[in-house]
Amino acid sequence: MSIAIKNAELIGEEWKKDVLIEDGEIKSISQSEEGEKTIDAEGKYLSPGFFNTHTHAAMTLFRGVADDRDFWDAWPNIVWPLEENLTEEDVYWGTKLACLEMIKTGTVAFNDMYFSMESALDAVEEMGMKAVLSYGLIDQGDPEKLEQEKEATKRFVRYAEDSELVEAAVGPHSVYTVSEEGLQWSADFANKKNLLVHTHLAETKKERDDFKEEHEVSFTEYLDEFGLLNERTVVAHCVWLEAKDYELLSNQGAFVSHNPSSNMKLGVGKPMNYEAMKDQGVKVTLATDGCVSNNNLDMLEEAKTAALQQKMSGDATLLNASEVYEMLTEKGAEAMGIDSGRIEEGAPADLILIRKDVKAMPDHYPKSNLIYSMSGSSVTDVMIDGNMVMRDREVEDEKKIMKNADERAKDLVSRVK
Ligand code: NI
Repeated sequence: MSIAIKNAELIGEEWKKDVLIEDGEIKSISQSEEGEKTIDAEGKYLSPGFFNTHTHAAMTLFRGVADDRDFWDAWPNIVWPLEENLTEEDVYWGTKLACLEMIKTGTVAFNDMYFSMESALDAVEEMGMKAVLSYGLIDQGDPEKLEQEKEATKRFVRYAEDSELVEAAVGPHSVYTVSEEGLQWSADFANKKNLLVHTHLAETKKERDDFKEEHEVSFTEYLDEFGLLNERTVVAHCVWLEAKDYELLSNQGAFVSHNPSSNMKLGVGKPMNYEAMKDQGVKVTLATDGCVSNNNLDMLEEAKTAALQQKMSGDATLLNASEVYEMLTEKGAEAMGIDSGRIEEGAPADLILIRKDVKAMPDHYPKSNLIYSMSGSSVTDVMIDGNMVMRDREVEDEKKIMKNADERAKDLVSRVK
């Protein structure tokens, strides 16, 4: 079925246009298009949907459980005990809740790392979203655990093989939770299967200090030794890097996933050095991280936070609205290996409509309104591969998802207490 989006105001363009969608793609854009179905976009912005390049979707279940605490307090004392008791059913409903929230705030695709990823994949497909999912491989230097983690990774990669919406990735959790053998296996397996790699790096000062005690090389030199640093890699956080790391990230073409809200909430000690990354031409994308350290998945809120945080350096020109918008859309898609994030003929129809409500008035600069003034709740419609997953802010089974996820979360917390 063809859909014509009429009177659409494209972000960054002066004249309203009609966009024709056919077979999941943008077929044509002109002053006048007709389709079998019509969506009137009068009074709305049309934008590519947003791409969240680092999260742990099922952690929506833990929203608010460990606020106002340091990472090295919250995780060992609260998060890890909860995760030890997570069931597949919990992950399914937690991921559904995350997808619901992401759709309602304009995100069309996300890069995820967690456990019970078969359940996560089922949830993502049912919600009609796109995702790159990885099983979070953690061996803590235990060879027996590594064998189990390898099997879990391989099992999930097989499970995801036939999915049209989900790509499997390899997810060595971090350099402080994965042995050298584990990192090497991850690199080799990803290379052999041509999969993306998703990992955490240089998030806290303690991680940096511990690493420096054990290694002569820098963080990125270390990853590079295993062959883990290339254009198929997404590295999350990257706060505590040193000068030579930016050059290596750039030379190897790896994507950085910037998580400003999470970094600030966990008190990691300083902002990510965006200026150094920009100077070196590092490809930077944007993400929310999981709900314990954010506490939501609203990418427009994240975009504003990212821009404002950089300006605290004393340079108000740093990370402008256009750069953040590119991170939200095309750059994010590129990091996930998805050829999308733009409005042009032949591109996948991963599109959102955003109501020009009171926060968009006056309408001098749509991009400024979007990044600095509006929020995800202004998104009215979301289309992924041409399928409407939200129409007039309504998503299928919304109440059921919220009720079930809430029940699962409360039951889990009571089991662990
Ligand atoms: Ni994370």
